[in-house]
Amino acid sequence: EPGAQVAALVIGSGYGGSVTALRLAQAGVDVHMVEMGMAWDTPGTDGKIFANTTSPDYRSFWLRTRTKQPLSNFLGFPLDRDVPRYTGILDAEEMGGIVVYQGRGVGGGSLVNGGMAVTPERSRFPAVLPSVDADEMYDVYYPRANSTLGVRTIDPAWFDTTEAYTYARVGRKHAQRSGFRFVFVPNVYDWDYMKREAEGSVPRSALAGEILYGNNHGKKSLPKTYLAQARATGRVTISPLHRVTSVTPATGGYSVTVEQLDTTGTVTATKTVTARRVFFAAGSVGTSKLLVRLKGTGALPALNHEVGNGWGENGNVMCGRANHLWDPTGALQSSIPTAGIDNWAAGGAFAEVAPLPTGIETWASFYLSITNNPHRARFTWNAAAGKVELDWQTAWKQPSITMAKTIFDKINAKEGTIYRSDLFGVHKIWGDHLTYHPLGGAVLDKATDNYGRLRGYSGLYVMDGALIPGNVSVNPFVTITALAERNIERIIADDF
Ligand code: FDA
Repeated sequence: EPGAQVAALVIGSGYGGSVTALRLAQAGVDVHMVEMGMAWDTPGTDGKIFANTTSPDYRSFWLRTRTKQPLSNFLGFPLDRDVPRYTGILDAEEMGGIVVYQGRGVGGGSLVNGGMAVTPERSRFPAVLPSVDADEMYDVYYPRANSTLGVRTIDPAWFDTTEAYTYARVGRKHAQRSGFRFVFVPNVYDWDYMKREAEGSVPRSALAGEILYGNNHGKKSLPKTYLAQARATGRVTISPLHRVTSVTPATGGYSVTVEQLDTTGTVTATKTVTARRVFFAAGSVGTSKLLVRLKGTGALPALNHEVGNGWGENGNVMCGRANHLWDPTGALQSSIPTAGIDNWAAGGAFAEVAPLPTGIETWASFYLSITNNPHRARFTWNAAAGKVELDWQTAWKQPSITMAKTIFDKINAKEGTIYRSDLFGVHKIWGDHLTYHPLGGAVLDKATDNYGRLRGYSGLYVMDGALIPGNVSVNPFVTITALAERNIERIIADDF
């Protein structure tokens, strides 16, 4: 309510925000979460909450009138289509030189992501977060994050026999024949539910291709894990379709300005509340944009010069390979990836064997690679244009392509196969225009202290992917969750 006073206000309800809300509430603190996306708890016109990946509709994209699908083409045909402007679930945010995909709604990225829940190898951790004690992370916070998220690995016997992972077994065979390390990748999907999908005893979700615009059944997204536990404390309230636009010091803490949106994105009310403490958990891009704007406009002038720095895209690059006719990848493909090719140490690339759930046999293998791209971009305030800009350069993806090629050039040579060039345009092999993994912009121990307290202000914190300087070497949400667990434990002990 306008004029309200809250003990702790959390901006955003993704991983960082959900950890923060749960642990504060368990410590007896009343928490209010502000989320610009929808609640995603009500069925749409077809009786389902979420749209299918193969047929995007009004629910699929955040305030666009035409879809912007990551795989834009197939067999030479463009796939994008017109949709009504709506506060849909997936934001394809066009920043300088890169399209950044992000989840919008209560649960943030957990609503749209592949659920791949990967803890980086311990030897790589010092490069990921140099100021963090690795022993504590691997003994306490990674285990806590994995268990609260409900992370599990697929039953290898079922993997070996189910039709739905034919594509991943082809991926394994090709990786191993070229001498690469093949690894199972844990996931938050309910594997027992998926087995029942295959038997036909429950409605299909992963086996119906649901993923990018939400899963109607088997995925344990944050509303089923951290946020369910947070709500059960009775101390957490959430306002969906509310967007924070300003935070500035005021008597009793901070004055927070919040816009209420309708489903066309129109602002229907502007409210001001006072919060004793404010936790920025709007995601790497959301938090960075807010902080850079607030520093630039003078609402939070004492934020330090590191705010906006150290942004990276986790080296994401996609590609497809065309297989021989004797290597079908299956008409039925589980939308939940469960396998990877690890060539990080030798080539700087970790490739997910990803699904291409078109419902038809494509003889294609599809991969999302995470690479050790060294480039880092910066968010700055453009006062004349009144907006935050990111200086990422399109050409900065070249190192990622070179690293991904250490895997796929070798596999193609061994198998006598070629790259697909019909998935990202016409005659375009590399999906190098996008990222699913924005990281950094308010880096730990630089823009904040070593626990996420923003330098220059007491009672302001960063809790999300903005803390991580650009690369995790694997999919990021387990690390974002574990870091938030570590930081909030210290903040509760020392600041409350
Ligand atoms: P996150 O983005 O989750 O949450 C931020 C929330 O804040 C959002 O809900 C947003 O709407 C809200 N917000 C932003 N600005 C606001 C404002 N001003 N006011 C109010 N609310 C605001 N990772 C992984 O580990 N394994 C995987 O398989 C995948 N797969 C994948 C697929 C796709 C398609 C995407 C887009 C992403 C992934 N990811 C992934 C990435 C993963 O989802 C991502 O790293 C995390 O969701 C980031 O967590 P955060 O807590 O940082 O922010």
